[in-house]
Amino acid sequence: MTVRQIVRVLGVGGSTRPGSTAEQALRRALAEAERLGAEVDLIGGAQLVMPAYEPGAGMHAPAARRLVAAIAAADGVIFASPAYHGSISGLVKNAIDYIEELRDDERPYLSGRPIGCVTVGDGRQGAVTALTALREVAHALRGWPTPLGVTLDRMATRFGPDGQWADSRAEQQLRTMAGQVVEFAVHRGIALTEQAVPARSGETPRVL
Ligand SMILES: Cc1cc2nc3c(=O)[nH]c(=O)nc-3n(C[C@H](O)[C@H](O)[C@H](O)COP(=O)(O)O)c2cc1C
Repeated sequence: MTVRQIVRVLGVGGSTRPGSTAEQALRRALAEAERLGAEVDLIGGAQLVMPAYEPGAGMHAPAARRLVAAIAAADGVIFASPAYHGSISGLVKNAIDYIEELRDDERPYLSGRPIGCVTVGDGRQGAVTALTALREVAHALRGWPTPLGVTLDRMATRFGPDGQWADSRAEQQLRTMAGQVVEFAVHRGIALTEQAVPARSGETPRVL
């Protein structure tokens, strides 16, 4: 089987704090997705500053328009949020609420897309409860949370000179999760292509 297919993976998240740990984690995950052959794009914390989502009010903020267009075009999305008071931050949740604008899209909300989830707390407890919340949100939007979600403890975080996490377990988990996003997106793309051009029985499917 020949597979030559580009998938687009979008990273959304982080905080407006300079050096946001969640955003750095997102960058690491996207770097891995790119290494695996995906086209990647990042919408970080500063680009998530937009008015509180109001149903029916339209998308006047350029940041909101860019976000919604990028999500509509993505084959896989990775969300990263700090743990705020036991859940995801308002900044990240408000941005996610704008996905309501995709309810009538040909792929409504996050339909058919793998969703990687990363949360960062000052300790594990908040990161774990935030991860559960983030996965529930992805699920409610018809996305497919990857088998591995990643929780990170900022207090135990250090970065090497090349931006890699000195914590090799964190680095490994981010890579594994990114790999799951790319793998799902590629296989879904193949399945859809084969549906469009079904292989005759006994013939090796060709996906170009
Ligand atoms: C308003 C606020 C609420 C927070 N609540 C929690 C929490 O409930 N549990 C926790 O572990 N950390 C909590 N933190 C700490 C952040 O999750 C942690 O510092 C995180 O790394 C920040 O992410 P960032 O580096 O991407 O900004 C809170 C921080 C802020 C500012």
